[in-house]
Amino acid sequence: MLFQALVSALVGISYLAGTEAAVVPLPPSSTPYWFRQPVDHFGSNSNTWEQQYLVNYTFYKAGGPIYLTTPGESPVGTQYIDNTHFTVLAKATNGLLVTIEHRFFGQSNPMPDLSGASLKYLTIENVLEDFASFARSAKNHPQSLFSVPVSCRSKIIFGGGSYSGNIAAWMRAKYPDLIQGAWASSAIVYGRLQYYQFDQSYGRHLEALGCAQNFSQAVKDVDDILLSKDALAISDLQSRFGVPTTLGVRDTAGLLAALSTTYSMQAVTSTSDYVDQSVCSFFRNKTATPLEAYIASVSSVIQKNGMNQQSLVQMGDSSIGIDNYALGQVGRVWYYMACTWNGNWQIAPPSNTGLSSYRSQLLDLDYFEPNCQNKFGNGIEIPVDVQSYNSNWFDILEGVSNIYYTSGSLDIWRDSTVAASTGNLLTKTPGSTIVLIQGATHVQDLRAEMADDLDSVKRARQAGDALVAKWLNI
Ligand SMILES: *[C@@H]1O[C@H](CO)[C@@H](O)[C@H](O)[C@H]1NC(C)=O
Ligand SMILES: *[C@@H]1O[C@H](CO)[C@@H](O)[C@H](O)[C@H]1NC(C)=O
Ligand SMILES: *[C@@H]1O[C@H](CO)[C@@H](O)[C@H](O)[C@H]1NC(C)=O
Repeated sequence: MLFQALVSALVGISYLAGTEAAVVPLPPSSTPYWFRQPVDHFGSNSNTWEQQYLVNYTFYKAGGPIYLTTPGESPVGTQYIDNTHFTVLAKATNGLLVTIEHRFFGQSNPMPDLSGASLKYLTIENVLEDFASFARSAKNHPQSLFSVPVSCRSKIIFGGGSYSGNIAAWMRAKYPDLIQGAWASSAIVYGRLQYYQFDQSYGRHLEALGCAQNFSQAVKDVDDILLSKDALAISDLQSRFGVPTTLGVRDTAGLLAALSTTYSMQAVTSTSDYVDQSVCSFFRNKTATPLEAYIASVSSVIQKNGMNQQSLVQMGDSSIGIDNYALGQVGRVWYYMACTWNGNWQIAPPSNTGLSSYRSQLLDLDYFEPNCQNKFGNGIEIPVDVQSYNSNWFDILEGVSNIYYTSGSLDIWRDSTVAASTGNLLTKTPGSTIVLIQGATHVQDLRAEMADDLDSVKRARQAGDALVAKWLNI
C-alpha cells in the first residue's frame, strides 16, 4: 500500500512538472513474486501452489533477453540477480534478471510437509515443467509476471551452477524452443551409485597443495582407531577432534569427512585457497604427526564456524530427521533426490580399486543407503537406478547445441561434470562448448567478479559472454 502511494505521488509530481516520462521507481529486487503451478504437471494431483521468484529490472530495455536462473536447493535471494556474472551480462545486453525457486525448497512448497508421500511429486519432469511453464508465460504474457513492460517473445538464457547447472542444461535440451541457450557451470549431470570419484577429486586438490599423502595417512590412522572396537580409544579420539562422543563410529567418520571438505567449494583466487588455509597448512607443521595435523585442522574448522556439540550432532547423526517432515529441511529433500534420482553416494574408494583415500573406509553404501527407506518409506527401491537416470537425463544432453559447460580442474564435483578427470563424458557436442577452468573449484565463473580472480576464470567468463552474444545474435 505504502509503495502504491509513493508511486502515485511520484507520477503526480512528474506530471505537474510537465516532464514526458513519469519517474516511477523500479520495484527493488527483493520484492517477492509468486507464480501458480499445479502440484503435478502430469495428472495425478491438480491442486496448486505458489512458486516464488525475484526480478531485477535495472538493466532491462525493450527487446533485451531474460536471464533466468534458479538457486536449485537454496532459497531465492537478491544475490542471485544482483550479484553474479549474469548481472554483468544483463548490464551489457539490456537483460532482465529473474531467479525462480525450485519446488520443495525455500518458500516454494507444493505440499504441506516433506513426507515420503509428499515428496513423490519431486520428479525431474515436474521440476523442469515448472520452469518451462514460467518461461512460456514470460514469452507469451510477460505482463502477467512482471511489473514493468517486458517485450513478448523475449529470448531466454538459462543459467546455473552445480545442480542448477543441470537444470540449465536440461532446460535447453528438453525445451529448445523456449530456451535459447544455457550456461551450465559445474553442472553435476553424470550420476554414479558409488561416487568415490568425489573423494578422489578432493585428493587432487590436496595433491596440488602438497598434503595429499599425509592427509590420507591421517585418515588411515583414524580408521585404525574407529575400527578397533576399543570404546575408550574411540571416545578419546572423538574428544581430541572435539566431536560429540555420543556419535557412533560411522557417523563420526561421516562428520569428519564433512568437516574436512567444508571449504572445498570456496573459490580459489590468485591470493587465497581455503583448502590450503583450513587443511594443508596444518600438515606443514614439522613437529606434528599426520593425525595431530588432522586433529588441529578439524578443530580449527569447528571453531571458525562457531559450531557447538549440538550443531555437530545435527551435522553428523545420519538418523536425525527421519521422523521430522516439516518444511524447510534442505538436507532431507536433497537426500530424497539422491535416494530416488542419482545416488552419488560419496563413499571411500572400495579397497579393490587400490586408490588412496581421503575419507574413512566406513563410508560405504551401507552407511548411506539404509536412510532411503528409513527416511522416505519402504516404497523406495534400493539401490537407486542410476543407469536409468543417466540414460534419461545424461543422454538427453547428447547432440544438444547452445550449452556452455564449465568445470574447475580442482572442483570436488568435477567427475560429475562433462569435463571429468577422465576426459569429456559427452560424445557428441556440436554447437556446445566445454571449458575446463584450470586451478578453479566449484562454479567460479558465475560468481561476481573479484579483484583477485584467476586469469583462467576471467577467460572462461569471456568465452561464455561471447557464446551468449552469439546465441542472442548481437
Ligand atoms: C539490480 O542489481 C544492481 C547491481 O547489483 C543493483 O545496483 C540494483 O540496485 C538492482 N536493482 C534493483 C531494482 O534492486
Ligand atoms: C605443531 O604441532 C604441534 C604438535 O601437535 C603443536 O603442539 C604445535 O602447536 C603446532 N604448531 C603450530 C604452529 O601450529
Ligand atoms: C608429510 O610428509 C612428508 C613426507 O612426504 C614428511 O616429511 C612430513 O613430516 C609430513 N608432515 C606431517 C605433518 O605429517
